[in-house]
Amino acid sequence: MQGTNDRSPWAAGWTWSAGADSTARRMDPPAALLATRKWAWALDPETPGAMPAAVGGTPVPPDHPHDPSMPRILAVAPPAPPESLGSAAFRTVHGVRFGLYAGSMAHGIASERLVEAMGRAGFLGFYGSAGEPPDRIETVLIRLKESLRDIPFGFNLINSPGASAWEEAVVDIYLRHGLRLVEASAYIQPTPALVRYRVSGIYRGPDGRVIAPNRIIAKVSRVEIAARFFAPPPEKILRKLVESGAISPEQAELAAHIPLAEDLTAEADSGGHTDHRAALALLPAMLVLRDRALTSFPNGTSLRVGLAGGIATPHAVAAAFAMGADYVVTGSVNQACIESGSSDSVRAMLADATQTDVARAPAADMFEMGVTVQVLKKGTRFAERAAKLFDLYKSHNSVEDLPEKDREWLETVIFRKPVAAVWEETREFFNRRDPATLAKAEQDPKRKMALLFRWYLGLSSHWANRGEPDRKEDYQIWCGPGMGAFNDWTRGSFMESPERREAALVALNLLAMAGALLRQAAWRGQGVSWSLRQEDLRPREKQVLEMLLNGTNE
Ligand SMILES: Cc1cc2nc3c(=O)[nH]c(=O)nc-3n(C[C@H](O)[C@H](O)[C@H](O)COP(=O)(O)O)c2cc1C
Repeated sequence: MQGTNDRSPWAAGWTWSAGADSTARRMDPPAALLATRKWAWALDPETPGAMPAAVGGTPVPPDHPHDPSMPRILAVAPPAPPESLGSAAFRTVHGVRFGLYAGSMAHGIASERLVEAMGRAGFLGFYGSAGEPPDRIETVLIRLKESLRDIPFGFNLINSPGASAWEEAVVDIYLRHGLRLVEASAYIQPTPALVRYRVSGIYRGPDGRVIAPNRIIAKVSRVEIAARFFAPPPEKILRKLVESGAISPEQAELAAHIPLAEDLTAEADSGGHTDHRAALALLPAMLVLRDRALTSFPNGTSLRVGLAGGIATPHAVAAAFAMGADYVVTGSVNQACIESGSSDSVRAMLADATQTDVARAPAADMFEMGVTVQVLKKGTRFAERAAKLFDLYKSHNSVEDLPEKDREWLETVIFRKPVAAVWEETREFFNRRDPATLAKAEQDPKRKMALLFRWYLGLSSHWANRGEPDRKEDYQIWCGPGMGAFNDWTRGSFMESPERREAALVALNLLAMAGALLRQAAWRGQGVSWSLRQEDLRPREKQVLEMLLNGTNE
């Protein structure tokens, strides 16, 4: 199994010695790989008397005097502690300890509590402002600024075609309260609101460099859209902003020299809105784009690419970093954690999911266009019922046209009340939120039918978040296949139980174990084929994890 690779630099017969390092220790290979704060040595297993691996210590060259009882070195792996993974620029620019962030989750599922927990532990967290009324967003922002003070965090800024007033209002709030970081998502083109956020307050520093205090992390799943973010803000929008007095002509000129976003999260197959892209194909394409885009900015510009979608196990994190990701992003697993704004019954359902328990279902916000979201299938009938609603919408022109049995199904199973009562509630809602859409629907029975169906699609998320016992069959729970992989990883550990899933500890374990896997790969490159097993990679409690990382756990 083990053996010295003839081409390995160690083949000449280097030996390992504790030397003057009082923390150097012999241990078994998994423990050495997991002690990622230290150098890890794979040693000749033929040497009698001690474990075939060590941390710390020093290599002794073959021509130096050495103790013949000391073991020969087969391979070495450099330290890879959690805070070293990914790019240093990402951590420095955003002022965080770790290259992993918790992505936004709509309706406050990425809750205030989640953002706080991640922030205090050294991770970025993004509040899930999508679908929230502006006054609620403002209240949460004020509270988070008070509680986290200098600790960095961000909010989602979601593209809202047809609701640009909401997007503008949200940007007003972010600017008014000096929010310095947003995760921008669902954009196909940059909007005036997004550009206004980025270029507000832009100036030239004393060293001549252009400084934009507001940072955007753009989340995209297509290369051609990503290219719009790794480019300066569109001139046309800048001109409009100058005309409206939002920025000065000098600021518009400075903005032409900076990228709209310095960070780009490539979103592969994920929970919620997703293009179902394959991470293994998407990330390399985004890295190529980044390298090309860099040539059009001044020296010293840093552009970074992160990976989201399926980041739920140490193997996935290690793969992302091995491929060159600057940072990684989690989503589905955070909804399953105690701090999420979801309910205990959703957390229990997520803990029971396997990789194949997800399905596509019509999206509430873009229902008429046939856009889908990825949801949990197991334990709820939402996906199947919402799909039937979409079929009915496609094949009929109005609710009145529906066959008798479908109308009955609608009123008894879906609405649990008469169509007229649901229309009353829908009217009231749209009157407040979006009167223009309501006006169109009152003129057009097909649009009216869409709004009626969207009543169900919208409420099904709320029923899930509130844990409405009576509507469990209708829970809409956004979830990616990574959730099942996470459950496999945590099975048999304390983290199997939904009550023991703490977001920051999940993130720390992911990074810690990913570091060990990267070291395993380094050993393999030198001919040593130890494999970390499920048991070695199981999640650990915080204190145990710290000891493991330092190699002091025995
Ligand atoms: C319940 C849920 C809600 C989400 N809501 C949003 C959102 O409002 N805005 C957004 O940019 N991304 C949203 N996402 C995507 C996440 O931020 C993240 O990018 C994604 O979940 C990562 O993939 P994963 O689910 O495979 O971990 C949501 C994801 C989930 C699971």
